[in-house]
Amino acid sequence: MKRQVRRIQAMRVKYLYINTIGCQMNVYDSEKIAKALKILNYEITPFVEKADLIIVNTCSIREKAEQKAFSFLGRLAGLKRKKPDLIIGVGGCVAQQEGAKILERVPYIDLVFGTNAISRLHGIIKMVAAKKCRLVDVEMTEEIEELTFDPEKNGDRKATGYVTIMQGCDNYCTYCVVPFVRGKELSRNPSKIISEIEDLVASGVREVTLLGQNVNSYGQKEGHLRFSELLVRVNEIEGLLRIRFTTSHPKDLSEDLMRAFKDIDKLCNHIHLPVQSGSNNVLKMMNRKYTRKLYLEKVEKLRNICPDIAITSDMIAGFPGETDAEFEKSLDLIKKVEFDGLYAFMYSDRPNAAAARLPKKVSENKKKERLQRILDLQNGFTTKKNKALEGSNQLILVEGFSKKQGKLNRHNNPQDIQWTGRTSTNKIVNFFQSDDSSYNENIVGQLVNVRIVEAFSHSLWGKPNSVEPLSNGLRGEESHVA
Ligand code: 5AD
Ligand code: SF4
Repeated sequence: MKRQVRRIQAMRVKYLYINTIGCQMNVYDSEKIAKALKILNYEITPFVEKADLIIVNTCSIREKAEQKAFSFLGRLAGLKRKKPDLIIGVGGCVAQQEGAKILERVPYIDLVFGTNAISRLHGIIKMVAAKKCRLVDVEMTEEIEELTFDPEKNGDRKATGYVTIMQGCDNYCTYCVVPFVRGKELSRNPSKIISEIEDLVASGVREVTLLGQNVNSYGQKEGHLRFSELLVRVNEIEGLLRIRFTTSHPKDLSEDLMRAFKDIDKLCNHIHLPVQSGSNNVLKMMNRKYTRKLYLEKVEKLRNICPDIAITSDMIAGFPGETDAEFEKSLDLIKKVEFDGLYAFMYSDRPNAAAARLPKKVSENKKKERLQRILDLQNGFTTKKNKALEGSNQLILVEGFSKKQGKLNRHNNPQDIQWTGRTSTNKIVNFFQSDDSSYNENIVGQLVNVRIVEAFSHSLWGKPNSVEPLSNGLRGEESHVA
């Protein structure tokens, strides 16, 4: 009887709540964490109050992201008082950066684990639970630690997935904390990448985004395939419909990779090519290793090779020492390129990053004002690009219900379902299910031909054209119908 009780206790499902802050790399890492902790019987819960284990996967790219993590941790104090057995862990980039200091700062945290510690996490948690101790593991590894999991059943029918192809970064842009918190650049073995994508596809995923800080230099150190060759291999995976990747460093964007957008049929028509500044002097201070002219030339070449390609970028406002005239150069570059979308940020000092030691910091007010000018200028181009799609037919990979869906479908009527997906150029399209009965089903993961009816600044509204359903659940090959 005693033994039976013990076995039942050992089998008890425990609940894991993960708060992921930051980039796609962290989203991918959180998925790995969830999979790794299944061994210990942890299941994901969306309810923080229900959790036996809470993990905050942190980001330290800007100070704001770091503050977000600490303010969430602050809100957990009451919960920990109510549930003393609750385990709270901090992972990701802030954990790597701050290590044991986090335990001092937040006394009710049980563990801190760095960006290279996910493979050791289940052991750490077992130890914390058994010994009621507090642990820190921020050891950096010299090799990529591959984790193997049983292929997942894709319960939510996710259409898209991330796959990390490399970790770390060797570029040391002077504003950036990544080389310090993610370590040296290391590329994964191509066979591991391919088999991970094959598993995702077997579980229903139809689009993968390959992740790395600088995908253009994939495999160069290790002598693996070149990135464009890896894309060819990924393109051959049956059942996969779309490939995306991020991020490309402009200095390493080769003609080889530009041609991939034309030659590799599953590769989506979108590149994220962070420029950061339009001023040569600021680019030099940032250690970006390209000039404004070189960036513009690469954009022109890319558009010559692939005229439909959507280009998005990142820009920093108020880098230390940035003058009014230098900032104007950034605005001018935005006008010249006409990006499809732009992520702009106020410069923020980061620990260890060289720019933190630069004098002549730009005031907060000026940074705010410059940021707003970038956003206002770019908004016009984003809307213009979206408007140009009105009346066109676009192939959308359906990702799920749109954000508004919850409010809309009051009568449970399939025609009332508002779906969301993306064009090959990465623009969000929302649409209602058509009157055509073939759509009265779960269409997540299917390609649907949609006529764009109205464009807004951040999304498009469409109406599906009728498409013959295919027996394998996919709707035809992707093509651009004008
Ligand atoms: N301050 C502001 N923005 C930053 N980024 C990276 N580091 C900083 C910083 N210290 C931005 C860059 C990068 C994006 C991911 O975040 O634009 O491309
Ligand atoms: Fe940071 Fe530069 Fe590396 Fe990108 S390339 S992660 S901005 S150091």
